[in-house]
Amino acid sequence: VEFSERFGRWGVVAGASTGLGAAFGVEAARRGLDVLLVARRGDVLEESAAAIRAQFPVEVRTLVLDLARPDAATMVAAATAELEVGLFVYNAAAEPQGRFLATPLEELHANIAVNCTTPTTLVHRLAPPMVERGRGGVVLVSSMGALQGIKVFAAYGAAKSYELILGEGLWDELRDHGVDAFAYVVGATATPNFLRNAGKVQADPEVLAGLIEQSGQAVGAPRSPEEVAASCFRVLDGRDREPVGPRHYSHPDDEARAAADARRPRADVVGDMGRMTSAMGR
Ligand SMILES: NC(=O)c1ccc[n+]([C@@H]2O[C@H](COP(=O)([O-])OP(=O)(O)OC[C@H]3O[C@@H](n4cnc5c(N)ncnc54)[C@H](OP(=O)(O)O)[C@@H]3O)[C@@H](O)[C@H]2O)c1
Repeated sequence: VEFSERFGRWGVVAGASTGLGAAFGVEAARRGLDVLLVARRGDVLEESAAAIRAQFPVEVRTLVLDLARPDAATMVAAATAELEVGLFVYNAAAEPQGRFLATPLEELHANIAVNCTTPTTLVHRLAPPMVERGRGGVVLVSSMGALQGIKVFAAYGAAKSYELILGEGLWDELRDHGVDAFAYVVGATATPNFLRNAGKVQADPEVLAGLIEQSGQAVGAPRSPEEVAASCFRVLDGRDREPVGPRHYSHPDDEARAAADARRPRADVVGDMGRMTSAMGR
């Protein structure tokens, strides 16, 4: 069965202007889905849309929108009202940096809006027609950072763990309705956002490399957004041979790391991570 028949005609990617989000749009279009790309920066969004149109014979629409807005989900729902949405990928993330108590409350609340509230409302809006049709896919992009508390990124880690656990719960609720939902746990990926952050690091590179290795957060070099997006779509491609699981990792090394950490004392896991993020000087 064709991918678009298996899931439905349109793919919606929230947070799709650059990096991993743009790569998710490409993977959806590669499989013949028409795509709706959502992000804040209209110019960058248009570039990603044009790149997809140039490569694949699909319809590409864009929606310039801040997903932190309280009415964000309503606006996406309006833009998709006439569309058969077969696949929904929530990739956008807010990432407040700095000690929790030193972070302005608005940033902490925007973190909850973008990483928790908006994806919650969007799944609630977009998944019912999938259930009615008996087919569809929902991917909530989470993070290796969701697997333990993270000093300097405490609110981000907590919000990403909400997406992780929501994705798992949805997997179990929706699978009997033919809809594949899962959480996608992403490790270090060379997105523009990641590279910008890496550029701000103040620690001695050697010291930081040691801490990163100790924390297990980056196994080898960061992976490319293209390979991370492709690996997520392979899960969907293979759903008839191998049922989709509640959580998938962007790389087997990340999965192995998560399993090893689950057996270590929590204070060590959280502490090693915190030593690394503190050394980043943010
Ligand atoms: N990169 C990594 O190493 C890494 C590691 C673990 C997990 N992740 C997860 O992977 C996902 C992508 O990460 P990334 O930021 O590095 O990659 P990205 O795909 O480069 O950027 C995120 C996308 O979301 C959009 N976005 C951000 N805030 C938004 C908002 N308020 N409203 C609308 N769109 C918004 C951004 O575009 P605009 O700025 O144009 O809005 C951009 O297109 C996130 O869920 C992140 O938590 C990444």
